[in-house]
Amino acid sequence: MDATHMGQDIEKVLLTDAQIQERLAELGVEVWEYYRDKDVLLVGVLKGAVMVMADFMRHLPGSVPMDWMAVSSYGSGTKSSGVVRILKDLDTDITDRHVLIVEDVIDSGLTLSWIRSNLESRSPASVEIFSLLRKPEAAKVEIESRWVGFDIPDEFVVGYGLDYDERYRNLRDVVTLAPHVYS
Ligand code: IMP
Ligand code: MG
Repeated sequence: MDATHMGQDIEKVLLTDAQIQERLAELGVEVWEYYRDKDVLLVGVLKGAVMVMADFMRHLPGSVPMDWMAVSSYGSGTKSSGVVRILKDLDTDITDRHVLIVEDVIDSGLTLSWIRSNLESRSPASVEIFSLLRKPEAAKVEIESRWVGFDIPDEFVVGYGLDYDERYRNLRDVVTLAPHVYS
């Protein structure tokens, strides 16, 4: 679906599918150059990063492996609990591997900082972060993300993998929701 299928539920479009693809292509070149003489393992965080992972990795001009982790940090609301639990761990042993975490959004940063230190405790060669979106005003912890697609205002957004109560993940664009959706 795209923004035209949202009916009354949409407030405004923040990023179109075309803008996202253009930025992912740009970052693909940068990331590929950065890992030129290294093998990198892409680690996606389920489920929000599914679309970013699928599109970003296809913009890379060579073969890369991927793995997935699932953690719980949100219930059905819109605020991070800070409590992280691993629901699905990696299949891969990352000892001595260069790991690039692929995320949808850095909001408070709590989830990602937890994931990063968890992965760092497994003796990888390196851990870097790639996030499509970042909300600088929402940061509760410093998060060093080497690549960020777009900085956005501190607003709840859906689409392109991001959900509200599991809805709108299949929306191509990133949008904000009309207030009535939350009530
Ligand atoms: P954080 O721990 O506050 O940084 O939030 C991490 C996770 O919360 C993200 O990976 C998303 O799954 C979810 N999240 C944060 N902001 C949003 C949003 O605006 N829309 C949908 N999900 C979000
Ligand atoms: Mg997520």
